[in-house]
Amino acid sequence: MKFSENAIKVLERRYLSKDEEGNLIETVEGLFRRVANHIAEADKHYDSNSDTKALAEEFFEMMTNLEFMPNSPTLMNAGKPLGQLSACFVLPVPDSMDGIFDAVKNAALIHKSGGGTGFSFSRIRPAGSSVRSTGGVASGPISFMKVFNAATEAVKQGGTRRGANMGILRVDHPNITEFIQCKKDSAEITNFNISVGITEKFMEAVKADTYYDLIDPKTKEVVGQKRAKEVYDLIVDMAWNNGEPGIVFLDRLNRDNVVPSQGEIESTNPCGEQPLLPYESCNLGSINLNAVLDEEEGKFVINYAKLARIVDSAVHFLDNVIDMNKYPLEEIEKTTKSTRKIGLGVMGFADLLFKLGIPYNSEEAIAVAGKIMEFIETRGREASRELAKTRGPFPLFGESIFKDEEPIRNATVTTIAPTGTISIICGASGGVEPLFAISFIRNVMDNDELLEVHDYFRKVAEERGFYSDELMREIAQKGSLAHVEGVPEDVKRVFVTAHDISPEYHIRMQAAFQEFTDNAVSKTVNFPNSATREDVSDVYRLAYELGCKGVTIYRDGSRDLQVLNVGKVK
Ligand code: CDP
Repeated sequence: MKFSENAIKVLERRYLSKDEEGNLIETVEGLFRRVANHIAEADKHYDSNSDTKALAEEFFEMMTNLEFMPNSPTLMNAGKPLGQLSACFVLPVPDSMDGIFDAVKNAALIHKSGGGTGFSFSRIRPAGSSVRSTGGVASGPISFMKVFNAATEAVKQGGTRRGANMGILRVDHPNITEFIQCKKDSAEITNFNISVGITEKFMEAVKADTYYDLIDPKTKEVVGQKRAKEVYDLIVDMAWNNGEPGIVFLDRLNRDNVVPSQGEIESTNPCGEQPLLPYESCNLGSINLNAVLDEEEGKFVINYAKLARIVDSAVHFLDNVIDMNKYPLEEIEKTTKSTRKIGLGVMGFADLLFKLGIPYNSEEAIAVAGKIMEFIETRGREASRELAKTRGPFPLFGESIFKDEEPIRNATVTTIAPTGTISIICGASGGVEPLFAISFIRNVMDNDELLEVHDYFRKVAEERGFYSDELMREIAQKGSLAHVEGVPEDVKRVFVTAHDISPEYHIRMQAAFQEFTDNAVSKTVNFPNSATREDVSDVYRLAYELGCKGVTIYRDGSRDLQVLNVGKVK
């Protein structure tokens, strides 16, 4: 099998089944057989005579050849008693004690099963308003977020992985300024990513430098006004300070809401790539772009026939996951099965560009991104329509925005996930991000240092005759090839990393993928430490103009505990 040493380590630590004493009772092959067999089983629901053995073999090959990988919960739980297979959930948080604590409980159940949860806290009445039943005073959305956070913290140890949350507040909620600053003032919201839900109205008010209304979600009354630009500048300032909050364009999420009759989309999953209706869940899967490259006479070309084959099989796989999934709540099962959203995306995009010899920060790369994603989206929808012929369209198709088109099995087909762990399993660069470093030094036990170099870069360096451990160490120290002597200019141009790429190119790449993605794109815009607030503001505006659904930024060195520091990797 093709798994690297690193991949096997991750699989052993987190994915392979263990007995009560923690001994492995499953092999890597066993894991992928378990997943493939279980997911293939769904075909029997539609045709009791179908050859699920052959299908299981197809799925097994697709995963073990590192062509496609489903999200982590599917790998961990398929064919096991827990059986929860989705990474993404959104839960409603109503403005009532009962409702809020139901959501806390439901989130805990989801975290225990390996899923992540997103919430909008916008329906909660603002701090200071009255509570009729007790004659008391409401504590507001931020204080309740701390309750969700504490619950997440407690469940963390028992679950299979760390619980992750997204918290969103609409920009017209009366507590918006407190929300924007809530992660600065508090160490009690650490298990949340936070994003401000921005409206078109607000963006227009920023542009025109006018005031906008704050609305009490309970009474729907206008309870105040704020100068839009002041709020906008506060968001920018906080994001510049430590990367949060992000922003999400709510009207855009709802423009792509396939079934508006089911209500508004208020939130995304934790990493932002999957907008969902309340009680909806979605399972993701990603194609490894390294696997669709053919090498012909020392040159790489994209094999579109192979990509088409993988897309077809991946859509089939992800649709089956919906049927085989064991849902943490009946309500979630009902909502999820009524739209049957799936999220097929890619990983290894940065690797692909290296191999094609195209710099990430170039017009050509933007064009390649669009071409690949358009192909996947078009083909993915065709595959979903094909499934609809035998399985029927998703149940709410008749009241969806697609109702006059050819029936389709899944309300959404494409999503670009971060692929945090599955990209390690596949030995691929994460999602559509550029590489963070070409080489880096990992501190292992006993103060030993391990030099890790990007596989393909190492190969090129060896072939071109400039490889040395010393040079790779220098590259690790400097964090980029830009100022390293001894690396040929053409190589420097192609092997760019996150900090060589201007924020504008980061956002343009996100927009290029977004154009052909039903859901959203997980992407962080990296800024150098020296970037100004104005630079951040410019990127927000550009993201808005280019049709992105949200923005997450990070200015290098702005957080105390940075996981991966250029030059001094821990
Ligand atoms: O690579 P993997 O399948 O583990 O996950 P990912 O692509 O990095 O993240 C996809 C989604 O999984 C996130 O947006 C979250 O919804 C969820 N997730 C989570 O709940 N907890 C984590 N620690 C990581 C991801």
